[in-house]
Amino acid sequence: MTTQITDMLGRPVRDLRISVTDRCNFRCTYCMPAEVYGERYHFLPREAILSYEETARLTRLFVDLGVSKVRITGGEPLVRQGLEQLVAMLDSIDGIDDLTLTTNGYLLAEHAETLRSAGLRRVTVSLDTLDPEIFGVMNGKGYSPEAVLDGIAAAERAGFDPIKINAVVERGVNDHTVLDMVRRFKGTGHIVRFIEFMDVGTLNAWQRDKVVPSAELVEQVNAVFPIEPLAPNYRGEVAERWRFLDGDGEVGFISSVTQPFCGDCNRVRITPQGEVVTCLFATGGTDLKTPLRSGESDDELRDRIANIWRARTDRYSELRASLQATETRKIEMFQIGG
Ligand code: GTP
Ligand code: 5AD
Ligand code: SF4
Ligand code: SF4
Repeated sequence: MTTQITDMLGRPVRDLRISVTDRCNFRCTYCMPAEVYGERYHFLPREAILSYEETARLTRLFVDLGVSKVRITGGEPLVRQGLEQLVAMLDSIDGIDDLTLTTNGYLLAEHAETLRSAGLRRVTVSLDTLDPEIFGVMNGKGYSPEAVLDGIAAAERAGFDPIKINAVVERGVNDHTVLDMVRRFKGTGHIVRFIEFMDVGTLNAWQRDKVVPSAELVEQVNAVFPIEPLAPNYRGEVAERWRFLDGDGEVGFISSVTQPFCGDCNRVRITPQGEVVTCLFATGGTDLKTPLRSGESDDELRDRIANIWRARTDRYSELRASLQATETRKIEMFQIGG
């Protein structure tokens, strides 16, 4: 039984992003800067985090309300033990057409095969640059891209196709390495997507002038590898797609700052501690863990979720310019996984 619910702006709920942990083995400067989240930072204790059974139960209720696409995120989802158990539980839910994972790729080589066998259908790997020095700085740990590239290769062997590769672009940091990324993955079947540096959270020292507008990157790429725009795969797709004229695949651009896409936004997020968050830039979420653990029925919980979605008016990216001065509290990226 699926009832498709819509929010105050007529947008359906389609895409559920589940953050399974707030922990991460990286300290990306644009997400969890090491100087803020050092070794002594207190992440959520185990009992505060939803169990896989609890997560799967909530997911089923979201599917009843129209969700058909599910993405597992973090923090870094692969630092959570036994993630394949959750994948298998989600894979068995009728009505999910797309089950995927966003990872930094560092632990992917050891998990790719198991995840694939458990029923994971796609993966997206974050990799901001191939330059070892710059990558080391951006991931805050000095790690080289090799482990991530090994993870991508393992995902390929395990049969994930297509594999998407997300690169956050920051002016003056890695914008001069964009063409190397294109060159490396063009013709491999993988799809590189360049993401405009966003003002998610409050701690990444975001400044407008660090954003490289996608239009500029499109020009940069087009000058060397001619490209033309492609239609979206589905309504509300975040990335703008472009194909190489020589037939060697496609690249994408995610332009949340210069071309906000709130109008079609059908994404909802669950935090590791079981809150529902209706916008990447929300100031907070609505707790579902307490009612869930106090014994509410599926119908009661489903009603709660429906009411949250029906009341939704979020369109932060469209309002960014006017809100910026007033907003000081925002959820951090590692709590909701993008
Ligand atoms: P596909 O299903 O493969 O198209 O993936 P996706 O683009 O939905 O997911 P992915 O995790 O790869 O998202 C790419 C990035 O786009 C995210 O990590 C965020 O940085 C950004 N993004 C995703 N959803 C939103 C959103 O609702 N609002 C904004 N502003 N940015 C988003
Ligand atoms: N701006 C843009 N993208 C970001 N990501 C994390 N923080 C930011 C930010 N401030 C990206 C990650 C990953 C995805 C989940 O979101 O690199 O690809
Ligand atoms: Fe970890 Fe992803 Fe945040 Fe980087 S962007 S610190 S990999 S959660
Ligand atoms: Fe959706 Fe909020 Fe992103 Fe707009 S800013 S696209 S409403 S998550």
